[in-house]
Amino acid sequence: MSSPRVLIAGNWKMNGRLGEATALAQAVAKGAKAGGPELLVCPPFPVLASVKGVLAAAPVALGAQDCHAKVSGAHTGDVAAEMLRDVGCSYVIVGHSERRTDHEEIDADVRAKAEAALRAGLKPIVCVGETLAQRDAAQTLGVVADQIAHSIPDAATAANVVVAYEPVWAIGTGRTPTVEQVAEVHAKIRADLEARFADGASFRILYGGSVKGSNAAELLAVENVDGALIGGASLKADEFLAIAAAAPDRA
Ligand code: PGA
Repeated sequence: MSSPRVLIAGNWKMNGRLGEATALAQAVAKGAKAGGPELLVCPPFPVLASVKGVLAAAPVALGAQDCHAKVSGAHTGDVAAEMLRDVGCSYVIVGHSERRTDHEEIDADVRAKAEAALRAGLKPIVCVGETLAQRDAAQTLGVVADQIAHSIPDAATAANVVVAYEPVWAIGTGRTPTVEQVAEVHAKIRADLEARFADGASFRILYGGSVKGSNAAELLAVENVDGALIGGASLKADEFLAIAAAAPDRA
């Protein structure tokens, strides 16, 4: 049932000082082809505006890695979704497992952030995924279903929300699930989305966790995999573009 345009998203995490970030963005912009999969880069907050300037008219969207739930106020160190919109973002990642771990974010926080993104006109990329202990305990499908149920706002549609399945044990480890494991979880997410949303069949469900040029074709060919969320490999333009080139043509 997967048919939406494939999304290839780079999560730069806490990497990319100004010079590096603009150089990377320049290289991605240069290699981006109109008509291929949708490309997105998510740099750290301080370089968003500069990266936007570099991307200019290139077919590469800009996203951030987190946002606060409120519009403004006494929240030292936080950034509102509206501020991200102002500097040219069209996406924001919410509920990444590193945020859930480092900042103890729970599903209710993630949902509030996703709602804030929608309020600001941004598309949230809502991340879910099990830990190794949960997988070993055969809890994967239940854990992911729970995160999907409680992290995705009721106002979500296929056009305004993206889901990313990222098994925590596959992030930054070089380990990836088998295609059967990816297919199983994505099918469950699809079924849950279809049960809850009228257009659940059309939501984009990204896979994330140690995606690189050499495994992208195999992962992106899995049913219900509508793109990838890429950490480490997105820091090298060649590798990121190789992943994009491996995407099936569904535009
Ligand atoms: P990775 O990270 O590609 O470095 O495993 C993916 C992510 O955390 O989004």
